[in-house]
Amino acid sequence: MAKAEYLISLIRSHFSDKPERFATIALQIAASEAKLGHNDVANNIKSIVDLANFEKSRQKQFDKDLQGLIFEQLTPFRLPDLIVSTAIRNKISRVIREFVKRDKLRRHGLENRRKILLSGPPGTGKTMTASIIANELQLPLYTILLHKMVTKFMGETSVKLRLVFDLINDKPGVYLFDEFDAIGGERSRENDVGEMRRVLNSFLQFIERDESDSLIIAITNNKSLLDTALFRRFDDVIVFSLPSNDEKLQILRDQLSPYATSIDFVKLLPYINGLSHAEISLACQDALKETILDDVDMSNELILQSIEDRNAAYHP
Ligand SMILES: Nc1ncnc2c1ncn2[C@@H]1O[C@H](COP(=O)(O)OP(=O)(O)OP(=O)(O)O)[C@@H](O)[C@H]1O
Ligand SMILES: [Mg+2]
Repeated sequence: MAKAEYLISLIRSHFSDKPERFATIALQIAASEAKLGHNDVANNIKSIVDLANFEKSRQKQFDKDLQGLIFEQLTPFRLPDLIVSTAIRNKISRVIREFVKRDKLRRHGLENRRKILLSGPPGTGKTMTASIIANELQLPLYTILLHKMVTKFMGETSVKLRLVFDLINDKPGVYLFDEFDAIGGERSRENDVGEMRRVLNSFLQFIERDESDSLIIAITNNKSLLDTALFRRFDDVIVFSLPSNDEKLQILRDQLSPYATSIDFVKLLPYINGLSHAEISLACQDALKETILDDVDMSNELILQSIEDRNAAYHP
């Protein structure tokens, strides 16, 4: 086919709402570009089609009523990537270990920790921890968009929640309620509060009744927003905090050691105040980008400048 014909077929398949046909034509274009030696173009088109197919297959796993409210997340994080205190690491390891040995525990009439609440300031590794637990256990990580559920389906949220808990029961995985404040706190508008209470109560009932083989992780930035009735329903609460000096050093070393052999990271510590793990990590990446863009070596000044910029941005 000539280029113009491909184009016409593409447009036709788009407007007649035939996505499969659209993908086939796109792949035909890729093949013909490859024949002309335009490998970059061909690969580009193929990867766009592959990604779209992959996204579609991920969406298909969920009931139509949950479309757009839950998605599978893939990350490469493993436990050693997480920089936290020994106490937090031990708690996370215990969740993993109890899950692996849950049958043994059950034989003794005991349950593994399955309902975990993570709390702490932004950028300290809460979402990362959920993906680490999923990866270490080789379980899929499903994130539930609670905020969207509550705002979009006012009045129907409990019905949607029931569908989520049915799924939790039917499909073992790590289920992440990442914006738990959306129902756990009173952050909502005045007139939403009644609905929030109802939704929270349904959530508590569902979580109490849950006896699935899944793990349920809820995350909040603000522990004080949540009440004790809620804590009781969780098997464990892990509280994250801003990095200690040791943790700050480890982030700097992990991120910058290969490029900054002569830099004394300890001297930088007094300048890092109140920055989270995520912010320090980003400051390191900023400094690294500068060295690449300006073709210069990594230096104390560059890192300090990046840290200052982050300080100013987050804590003016
Ligand atoms: N404890 C940590 N150890 C190593 N890297 C971290 C840690 N915390 C954060 N990071 C880095 O920062 C990124 C963002 O962290 P994450 O999403 O887990 O933060 P969070 O606690 O969920 O924050 P938020 O409350 O804003 O959602 C991570 O992908 C990782 O690159
Ligand atoms: Mg998060």
